[in-house]
Amino acid sequence: MKAFVNEPVLELRRAPVRAQLADALAAHDARPVVQAPVWIGSDRREGSDLVSTDPGDPERVVTEAAAATPGEVEAALALASGRGAKAWGATPAAERAEVLVRAAAWLRERRLEIAALEVREAAKPWPEADADVCEAIDFLEYYARGALDLARGAPLLQMPGERNELRWSPRGVVAVISPWNFPVAIPLGMVAAGLATGNAVLLKPAEQTPGCAALLVRALRESGVPPEALALLPGEGEVGAALVKDPRVHTIAFTGSNKVGLEIVRSAAEVPDGQRHLKRVVAEMGGKNAVIVDSDADLDEVVPALVASAFVFAGQKCSAAARVLCHEAIHDALVERLAGAVEVLQVGQAERLDTDVPPVIEREAQERVERYAAEAERAGRIAARAGDVPGHGWFATPTLAADLPEDSPVLSEEIFGPLLAVERVRDVAAACDRLDESPFALTAGLFARNPDTVDYVIDRVPVGNLYVNRAITGAMVARQPFGGNRLSGTGTKAGGPGYLLQFVEPRVVTENTMRHGMVV
Ligand SMILES: NC(=O)c1ccc[n+]([C@@H]2O[C@H](COP(=O)([O-])OP(=O)(O)OC[C@H]3O[C@@H](n4cnc5c(N)ncnc54)[C@H](O)[C@@H]3O)[C@@H](O)[C@H]2O)c1
Repeated sequence: MKAFVNEPVLELRRAPVRAQLADALAAHDARPVVQAPVWIGSDRREGSDLVSTDPGDPERVVTEAAAATPGEVEAALALASGRGAKAWGATPAAERAEVLVRAAAWLRERRLEIAALEVREAAKPWPEADADVCEAIDFLEYYARGALDLARGAPLLQMPGERNELRWSPRGVVAVISPWNFPVAIPLGMVAAGLATGNAVLLKPAEQTPGCAALLVRALRESGVPPEALALLPGEGEVGAALVKDPRVHTIAFTGSNKVGLEIVRSAAEVPDGQRHLKRVVAEMGGKNAVIVDSDADLDEVVPALVASAFVFAGQKCSAAARVLCHEAIHDALVERLAGAVEVLQVGQAERLDTDVPPVIEREAQERVERYAAEAERAGRIAARAGDVPGHGWFATPTLAADLPEDSPVLSEEIFGPLLAVERVRDVAAACDRLDESPFALTAGLFARNPDTVDYVIDRVPVGNLYVNRAITGAMVARQPFGGNRLSGTGTKAGGPGYLLQFVEPRVVTENTMRHGMVV
């Protein structure tokens, strides 16, 4: 297999490419509503228990999904833990890798169609929707190669008369529970890791984006994943909870909120009757991502990077900036310049290329952002709000807050929307102290010109991904393996070396090779 390279994003500045996007969206809109079935083996049951709608136009139905019943969850578990895990686990790693690479080609061929679905179902603006499809392709290509490396085992010390071998076997059944904000890349990444390593996988996608999940399951099945090795179980949280506690599940790959992640960790720690293994939980959770700005930072660089980090995709990336810890010497200047930038943000539909901030995913998210904005106004100051916010659709007003007390929940809780708070700090050390108080440690950023300051912050900041003198979103597979520490995650890095080890069981075989005479 050729060396891994990232899938190039579309050149959206080119008029012909933009015309293709418009055509893809028109084609999407002309097709019937997407169906996300409960899909177990070759049984496919469609339904409309869950309906996803366009966040920018909530009357527009995007997908109708069947919700998995307890009986269907049982059937999926029986199939996956029986034939599914056995047959797929016995398939040579090279064959499994080929299937994943074929699925990457499947996505590549349909990238505009898939991005159009994301535009409608998650209100992902085109550049982010396209990047999400590219990341999904990257996960497939990267984990296919990683699984081949794992299949080669690892060298161990050999002594005369003894042969030592380390190999990794599939664990069995992986339950994947995914969020809506990277509706193809995140579920596909977790599913691909489980499949690449020979496990059977049950996918419980986010209830907000079942259409995207159905598409990725189609991609994998049409590329050669046997039906018994991959099931789609749309539904609300209780479908995920049922998988987590079932004794036939070996690994749970979860990405989502802190609250749900902790519940999963607790539930998976139980060992119900009949379970002969310990479950492993890979949990990627929420954060409260801060950017430290030192007094010597170049505001011409800082302002656009902060605006992009905080407001692109309406602040709904797990890596989005939510706090700025700014040196007191330039605090007022930064707030003034950020305010100017926030006021002119273009809030609009995801499909428009001039949109800076699309709607948030649902009404509840809109209300949450407004609640925190009201709290910021009460306890501190609103330095800026974007004007001209559409009244129809789940639009939340991009907001810049300042002068909040240190104990404000606006500074410590994950809001997951377009609200950025700036805090005044005495110096970079004080910024690091504040950051260190947080139970979250997902991403952070630093703007500073002094290399000693950069080294100091690298040493002190406990986050999983630290970005220096750049925006803090946009991690790429193999370049910025991604995942948080502390209560932001179990410390595994998606798209990086070591990730696949979560999905396998190590086995060491030691053979005495001294001859004891021939058996006759
Ligand atoms: N660290 C990362 O890499 C990363 C990436 C993307 C999103 N996130 C986080 O995800 C969150 C946003 O996503 P969300 O709103 O979909 O999160 P969520 O936790 O509400 O839902 C995630 C998934 O868990 C399921 N679920 C809900 N209750 C459950 C239960 N009791 N047992 C099992 N499963 C259950 C949901 O149905 C959904 O499929 C944010 O907190 C964000 O920071 C983190």
